[in-house]
Amino acid sequence: MMGDYILEIAYLIASVLYILGLKMMSGPKTARSGNLWAAAGMTVAIIATIFLYTDESGNHLHNLPWIGAGIAIGSVIGWIIAKRVEMTAMPQMVSLFNGMGGACAAIIGLIEFPHYLHNGDWLILATIFAGLVIGSVSFAGSMVAFLKLNGNLNKDIRLPFYNIINTLLIVVTLGLTVCLAGGHIHSNPELWVYMLLGLSLAYGILFVLPIGGADMPVVISLLNSFTGMAAAFGGFLYGNMAMLTGGILVGSAGTILTVVMCNAMNRSLTAVIFGAFGTGGATATAASGEQKSYKQTNPSDLAVLLNYSSKVIIVPGYGLAVAQAQHVVHEMEQLLESRGVEVKYAIHPVAGRMPGHMNVLLAESNVEYDKLVEMEDVNPEFATTDVVLVLGANDVVNPAAKEDPSSPIYGMPILNVEDAKHTVVNKRSMSVGYAGIDNDLFYRDKTSMLFGDAKKALTELVAELKSL
Ligand code: TAP
Repeated sequence: MMGDYILEIAYLIASVLYILGLKMMSGPKTARSGNLWAAAGMTVAIIATIFLYTDESGNHLHNLPWIGAGIAIGSVIGWIIAKRVEMTAMPQMVSLFNGMGGACAAIIGLIEFPHYLHNGDWLILATIFAGLVIGSVSFAGSMVAFLKLNGNLNKDIRLPFYNIINTLLIVVTLGLTVCLAGGHIHSNPELWVYMLLGLSLAYGILFVLPIGGADMPVVISLLNSFTGMAAAFGGFLYGNMAMLTGGILVGSAGTILTVVMCNAMNRSLTAVIFGAFGTGGATATAASGEQKSYKQTNPSDLAVLLNYSSKVIIVPGYGLAVAQAQHVVHEMEQLLESRGVEVKYAIHPVAGRMPGHMNVLLAESNVEYDKLVEMEDVNPEFATTDVVLVLGANDVVNPAAKEDPSSPIYGMPILNVEDAKHTVVNKRSMSVGYAGIDNDLFYRDKTSMLFGDAKKALTELVAELKSL
């Protein structure tokens, strides 16, 4: 039929828009438009499904008012949350939205299984249960991640033998899935499907519960890929190409991002899931106990140093985001540029607490994209730099990653700030960063510490610069 033909073309257009959108999201200049392109693809897919889809008997979708109401309510809530969210709260928002995707995939499984349980073939049932299990794990895990990141669940709760419990749980869940899909459960299989749902939700909760709050972005990215996979199973079930390609893209993008983040932190995924890294500052003040000395500077001396430099590189980190100092750092950059100083920003792939955190943060204050230089490109430039200004960053500039094989971050690629003539580090104290380890950079001859909250320190620095 003509309608089916147009529907397939609409799905093709939607898929192409997703792919183009995703490609554009890989660069800060095009990321915003990429988001809009992908959203346009989703809009095409939704509208085409609502108005063009017909079942085998040629009936169009009914329940249109319900569908419209769901879309309207969801859009309003999503719009308000996205408009209000603080940059530092972005990881929990992503987690919440991802959890909703997982819940949708699980609900598809719950709605569809009664139609096929007694007469479906094993492939359809396997598809339904795979979507149900993966979607439920993603939903429950994302909700725990949300609560942790939002500060509602502060502690990393570790049940005794949690790794064994989790492994058993996943084995039982997989076994039950196989039995149900293969039609091996004859007595009250409906009840067992709900057991499967319960087990999957429990696994989602228990799998994320022990993971350190700071490891959560990696886990969110992993859960994101789960949601994609669950949606892809839904697309396969309904023969819906837009849902299938969308799910596959989200699933693979999430997986790639998880791998990229793990590599950038030099951590294996197993270490993130089963390890205790990032659970606090227990290892904080580093083992040796020896008192090391460091130099301190102040806004007035630093203003002079910066003013008479020819090249300055700024290294933004998590502390800059917490302090919300992105606007004042941009003001300082413009001030220095107006005095003939070349200023750039060095962006480490895992600076901050989520992928692209620094790019998004600096884009918020209209820093030019060309000024943001990725780690591989900026590292050779430090040797010709007069001053490196490290703002609320710690692990991403820790030379132990290159020099100390016993360090937990050994092997993590870092920014070679120590190659510059002067390094100035702004943070509030000598305490540790996310990895919970001391940083030898702070004690080096060419390094000076500028203590204080990043926003306050930079505001004072800007005032001093203006007075020169
Ligand atoms: P961190 O190593 O966490 O260091 C941030 C520093 O900021 C802290 O040492 C803290 O020192 C300082 N700080 C906190 N609040 C501040 C404020 N208001 N003003 C000034 N300084 C402040 O951050 P980083 O260098 O950006 O490294 C990121 C870490 O997160 C890496 O270990 C990375 O592996 C991990 N991680 C990142 C991601 C992604 S994708 N970005 C995902 C998971 C994990 P004081 O307390 O002394 O102020």
